[in-house]
Parts: sequence; structure tokens; C-alpha cells
Amino acid sequence: MNRQPKILLVGCGSMGSALIRGWLKNGWSQDDIKVIDPNEAARSVATSLGVGVTEKPSERLQVDIIVFAVKPQVLTQTLPDYKKLVNGDRIFLSIAAGKPLKFYEDFFGKKASIVRAMPNTPAAIRQGVTVLVGNKGVNSAQRASSEALMGAVGRVAWLDNEELMNAVTAISGSGPAYVFLMIEALSKAGVEMGLSLDLAEELALTTVAGSGALAASSDMSPAELRRLVTSPGGTTEAALGVLMKNENFDTLLKKAVSAATKRGRDLA
Ligand SMILES: NC(=O)c1ccc[n+]([C@@H]2O[C@H](COP(=O)([O-])OP(=O)(O)OC[C@H]3O[C@@H](n4cnc5c(N)ncnc54)[C@H](OP(=O)(O)O)[C@@H]3O)[C@@H](O)[C@H]2O)c1
Repeated sequence: MNRQPKILLVGCGSMGSALIRGWLKNGWSQDDIKVIDPNEAARSVATSLGVGVTEKPSERLQVDIIVFAVKPQVLTQTLPDYKKLVNGDRIFLSIAAGKPLKFYEDFFGKKASIVRAMPNTPAAIRQGVTVLVGNKGVNSAQRASSEALMGAVGRVAWLDNEELMNAVTAISGSGPAYVFLMIEALSKAGVEMGLSLDLAEELALTTVAGSGALAASSDMSPAELRRLVTSPGGTTEAALGVLMKNENFDTLLKKAVSAATKRGRDLA
């Protein structure tokens, strides 16, 4: 496909609207995107972005990719309306957390081209990461289109083994919450040491954001960067002595990730 794929976005809430903003910044024209959402506020957001809103899915709609960005709990009532749009070329891409490919195949059939995607909230500022997995119906051109679509809001990676999607969700899907907790905890610790809340929060937040950006742009591994900050007998070493004693920090994070992975499995 030499042109940008035409998109029908189902659900224009926080993730859906972030996707539209990304697409518009990445070469899609407003005419290439249509939205379906019963929510008045969500429709206004779409309209304010210059994107057309349509009432119902219709076979007359010229779309290449249908993107489901609704909550997982409304999928069962939403998907049957889209069965009539199944054809050999169209991609059905869903960002709904937890629902396996088989769930969509039960509605659209095994021959439909279905992609399951797990983005994360930094997608709102186009710094997200999305992991994709496709069913057997997805060909290489459709993989490329799906990648371009989600690449508009950050990085993209593919999985071959869908089972690992729960681990992905536990790392990058839920991960922003762990980082926000780190900012909160670091701020609280600063206040305990006598800093004002404003200053403690600014220091914690800027340190997390700056360190993430440094790690992302550096040729050094995170472990090397950590060692660089850690002078023998210094302040960082004193703190790391607490965090790393008996692998405290590692163990806590492993437990958290394992709990999230298990929860993902239970919800599927
Ligand atoms: N936010 C995240 O961190 C994140 C990360 C990864 C994946 N996801 C997934 O992204 C999906 C969307 O999440 P979100 O946070 O953007 O949700 P959201 O803000 O609630 O947006 C969903 C939108 O879909 C609308 N909607 C409900 N039923 C619909 C239907 N039948 N057809 C079309 N639109 C319909 C909702 O309207 P009403 O509000 O009136 O129901 C709402 O405007 C979820 O499945 C979630 O699992 C989210």
C-alpha cells in the first residue's frame, strides 16, 4: 500500500485521541481517519482534531484498518457490529488489555487479519511503547501497516508468542504506574528529610525523567550508568547498599511483575 491506510477508530477516549494526534503528526490526513464513539465528549474531541465522526459501521466505509480502543468490558457487545467489515485485506487491531487473539477470532473468524496491541500511557506524548502480536491471517504488508500505525505514538516491537503478552503488560503496560510510584516515594522521602513538598516533587520527577532520557540516549547500559554515579564510600553507595541488600529492590519488582502477569492470565 503506497498511501496511508484509512483508519476507522472505535472509541476516542484517552488512548484513542492520543492515537489520532500521533497519526496526524505522522502523515495521516484528517480525511483518512473516521471515529465511532457514542460518548458526546469523545466525539467533540474527534471533531476538534478535524476528524470525521460516523454513527455506525457500514460496508460503504472505505477503511483499511479498524482500531478498537474501547474498554475490554464493552468488546463483547461492540464487536458483532463490525463482522460485516471483514474482508481479506482489512486489519482489525485492538488495543484492549487482556483479550487474546482467539477472542476476536470467535467474532470475526480465523481468516480475518487480527492484531492485538499493548501500548502504554506515554503514548499520549508519543513516547510510548507498543507490543504487537498478530494471528495467522496477518500478512507482511499488514504487519507493516500495523507497525506504522502504532509507531505514530512511540516505539513498536512484535511478539511471536502471544503467551508473553501478559509479561509485556506487566512491564510496559502497567510499568508507568511503577515509575509514578517511584516519583511519589522519592518525594515523600525528600519531605521526611526536611525538603518542601514542591521542591521534593520537582527533584524526584526531574531525576526520573532525566535519568530515563539519559539511559535511552546513552551507549552505556543502565548498570554502567549506575556504577558511574556510585563513588566508593559515597552517598549513592550508602543508598544502594539499602536497596540492593539481599537483592531487596530486585525481589520486590520481580514480585510485582509476577503478580501483574498472573492477574493478566486470570483476566484473559
Ligand atoms: N490507558 C492505558 O494505560 C492503556 C494502556 C494499554 C491499553 N489500554 C486499552 O485501551 C483501551 C481504551 O482505554 P482508554 O483509557 O482510552 O478508555 P476510555 O478513555 O474510557 O475510552 C474509551 C472510549 O470508548 C467509548 N465507547 C464505549 N462503547 C463504545 C462503542 N460500542 N463503540 C465506540 N466507542 C465506545 C467510551 O465511551 P463511554 O466513556 O461513554 O463508555 C470512551 O469514549 C482499553 O481497552 C484499555 O485496556 C489502555
